[in-house]
Amino acid sequence: MSNIWICKLLSSLITLLIISSCVYVCEGQEAMATALPPAAETCNGVFISYQLMDRRKEFPRVKNVTAQSWAFNATAKVLNTGKDVVKSWKLFIGFQHDEILISADGGIPFEAGEFPADVGNGTTLVGSNLADLETSINTANDMNQIQALIKISGTQFGVKPPGVPLPKTIKLDNDGYKCPRPTTRKRIMQACCNRDPKSKKKLIKTKFIPRQKGDLTISYDVVQAYDNNYLVQVTMENHSPLGRLDRWNLTWEWTRGEFIQQMKGAFTREIEYTGCIFGPPGQYYKDMDFSKVMNCQKHPVISDMPPEKSNDTELGKIPFCCRNGTLLPIIMDPSQSKSIFQMQVFKSPPDLDKTSLFPPAKWKITGVLNPAYECGPPLKVQPTIFPETRGLDAITYAIASWQIVCNITKPKQRTTGCCVSFSAFYNESIVPCNTCACGCDEDEDNGRCNPNAKSMLLPSEALLVPFENRTKKTVAWAKLKHFHVPRKLPCGDNCGVSINWHVASDHKGGWSARITLFNWKPYFFKNWFTALQFKKTVSDGFEKVYSFNGTLLRKINNTIFMQGIEGSNYLIGIDNETNPKVPGKQQSVISFTKKFMPTMQIAKGDGFPTKVLFNGEECSLPTQFPMRSGNQHNVYLVQQVLILVLAFTMIQILY
Ligand SMILES: *[C@@H]1O[C@H](CO)[C@@H](O)[C@H](O)[C@H]1NC(C)=O
Ligand SMILES: *[C@@H]1O[C@H](CO)[C@@H](O)[C@H](O)[C@H]1NC(C)=O
Ligand SMILES: *[C@@H]1O[C@H](CO)[C@@H](O)[C@H](O)[C@H]1NC(C)=O
Ligand SMILES: *[C@@H]1O[C@H](CO)[C@@H](O)[C@H](O)[C@H]1NC(C)=O
Ligand SMILES: *[C@@H]1O[C@H](CO)[C@@H](O)[C@H](O)[C@H]1NC(C)=O
Ligand SMILES: *[C@@H]1O[C@H](CO)[C@@H](O)[C@H](O)[C@H]1NC(C)=O
Ligand SMILES: *[C@@H]1O[C@H](CO)[C@@H](O)[C@H](O)[C@H]1NC(C)=O
Ligand SMILES: *[C@@H]1O[C@H](CO)[C@@H](O)[C@H](O)[C@H]1NC(C)=O
Ligand SMILES: *[C@@H]1O[C@H](CO)[C@@H](O)[C@H](O)[C@H]1NC(C)=O
Ligand SMILES: *[C@@H]1O[C@H](CO)[C@@H](O)[C@H](O)[C@H]1NC(C)=O
Ligand SMILES: *[C@@H]1O[C@H](CO)[C@@H](O)[C@H](O)[C@H]1NC(C)=O
Ligand SMILES: *[C@@H]1O[C@H](CO)[C@@H](O)[C@H](O)[C@H]1NC(C)=O
Repeated sequence: MSNIWICKLLSSLITLLIISSCVYVCEGQEAMATALPPAAETCNGVFISYQLMDRRKEFPRVKNVTAQSWAFNATAKVLNTGKDVVKSWKLFIGFQHDEILISADGGIPFEAGEFPADVGNGTTLVGSNLADLETSINTANDMNQIQALIKISGTQFGVKPPGVPLPKTIKLDNDGYKCPRPTTRKRIMQACCNRDPKSKKKLIKTKFIPRQKGDLTISYDVVQAYDNNYLVQVTMENHSPLGRLDRWNLTWEWTRGEFIQQMKGAFTREIEYTGCIFGPPGQYYKDMDFSKVMNCQKHPVISDMPPEKSNDTELGKIPFCCRNGTLLPIIMDPSQSKSIFQMQVFKSPPDLDKTSLFPPAKWKITGVLNPAYECGPPLKVQPTIFPETRGLDAITYAIASWQIVCNITKPKQRTTGCCVSFSAFYNESIVPCNTCACGCDEDEDNGRCNPNAKSMLLPSEALLVPFENRTKKTVAWAKLKHFHVPRKLPCGDNCGVSINWHVASDHKGGWSARITLFNWKPYFFKNWFTALQFKKTVSDGFEKVYSFNGTLLRKINNTIFMQGIEGSNYLIGIDNETNPKVPGKQQSVISFTKKFMPTMQIAKGDGFPTKVLFNGEECSLPTQFPMRSGNQHNVYLVQQVLILVLAFTMIQILY
């Protein structure tokens, strides 16, 4: 009797054990099985779930529990149990344990881009191979078409067992759906999202921001749109009277997994498509031949085509393209103040419809020895109007337009590309460019020269000599003139271009100066320009520039604008075959009257510019002027006349 009783008790205990362990195991497998969880059966909308499958301690093993990393496996599901097709599903998973996604089979974390992706603040997954979820009604309950299954693996931090590290929340991020707080049981988090009856189809009534003014404006005009790609025309216009770009490089950030399939009128510096193959596009465009794709970088660097490609039907044939990246001020040539290129952009899920258009962000543009530009964000503006291309007297509109405004910023100290030296007929010494005017290379110069010492006065013949070969001359000059010679000599200016402003004569009615441009770079400057500002009454006395084409721009702070005359508008590069090297050089004399400022004091600074630009870049100016002492006037005048004559003959010989 008692034996039977004990037996019964034992067996029922065993059954209980089996059952309870089965409950635990079965629940773990439930998600894998075809049977749906009860909550899904009763959901008449979109059923979403997240289940932590497995987790293992990673290396390194640490004592600090919160710093321990774990490898985890999870499955997320989006199941359409409603009667409407769910277009471009988006599942937000609110991770909270510094998760790093290593893979997400079936989904793409679309803000994060590439794996491994830091998703510690949560991420939105979109479908890679199943972007839209069909209805059960349309497919005879084909689970493969109505359910997206995402297999996630990654790393997470902290949470000591038996704690179960689940996300903070999950929700369907599609417009028109509302999700309640998800319920959590053991390792599963789930919710049933329903259509939000209050959400009416938002009437997209776009209010456009008026177009802004700025030094350089860029227009991003979508001219053709298809479901998964669009054709965009990018137009850059230089509006600054003294702004300029040469060999421009334009870069930006794609924020939604786009890539550039083709480009006309410009090219990307790297032809790179591995980013696509291993990124979201590779998962979505399974049949695309990526070797024909132009660029898949998140931050492509784009440059203008060389002029030889302007008639190339495949790469060029875009108006205003193909000038090696030159954007001149309008006063120099309006036809060269604009650059245009076109590109075919392919999109990634979930942006797969014609109206999902997003411009890239974080625009930056640079040029060679040009001003520094700072660009604002793209702003949606009234679609750009284009003339009809078939010759009809009609206009067409861009599908969507954004404007990016870039303004010139004042160069910070030691970041410019050009500098100025001052000299005058009444003083034998030249006040050179400032030490490190264009920056100093710490590694190269460190120890050998002093980046903070004042630059040393020069004899005039040293101006044409590269800094590296000047030392002997400078030191000898200092000894001769009894100037202080510091123990550690100052570093050079390191500028690509330097400009010497030399006051050549000063008499009762007027005065004259000679400007010399030196190019220390190995490349030439075509269509160069320089712009000088003085005290207003000084520039009012501007008369004539002899060897350059000069104009006084009264509206722009009375700037004297100078460019090479037609045929001699090249500032050639340094000749590196000679020893010492010889810089490229251009020179002219400028005359002024004193009519508007009879009391002007040349040596006190009135005869020297207050601001100098070369190709739009603001040059570094010396901090002192050549001083006048005693009455050596006449001696140097004779010498100066000789130099002037020499300068003219040199120009004659050169051109
Ligand atoms: C444990 O690690 C966490 C995260 O790395 C850190 O914030 C915390 O200060 C560490 N605690 C100790 C006691 O070292
Ligand atoms: C995750 O799943 C894969 C394949 O099912 C397996 O190879 C891997 O070991 C799992 N990782 C963890 C941390 O459980
Ligand atoms: C998460 O958000 C915080 C605060 O906004 C931010 O500082 C941090 O960089 C974010 N982390 C990630 C991985 O985006
Ligand atoms: C391109 O074609 C135009 C018109 O036919 C011609 O004037 C120009 O020289 C050509 N440019 C090049 C680089 O071949
Ligand atoms: C265009 O740039 C290339 C390379 O930088 C240079 O070799 C060529 O001379 C330039 N052409 C013109 C017309 O400036
Ligand atoms: C433009 O990019 C190329 C390649 O990255 C680089 O060699 C060149 O110096 C850049 N030019 C400017 C002006 O930044
Ligand atoms: C650029 O400068 C213009 C005025 O010249 C100003 O209205 C605009 O806000 C500036 N834009 C940016 C992005 O700084
Ligand atoms: C003109 O000078 C004023 C004051 O120095 C300055 O604010 C302004 O930006 C200058 N304009 C130009 C076009 O350089
Ligand atoms: C001087 O420059 C002006 C304006 O850019 C231009 O119209 C004119 O043709 C130039 N003259 C010469 C001789 O180059
Ligand atoms: C001179 O410059 C050219 C072009 O930059 C370069 O190819 C050449 O090697 C240089 N020669 C010397 C002697 O430095
Ligand atoms: C000028 O300096 C360079 C670099 O230090 C050196 O190679 C060259 O021989 C020097 N030339 C003369 C004439 O001293
Ligand atoms: C020439 O000018 C410099 C810089 O202002 C000054 O230090 C020097 O004394 C002047 N020389 C003469 C002879 O006046």
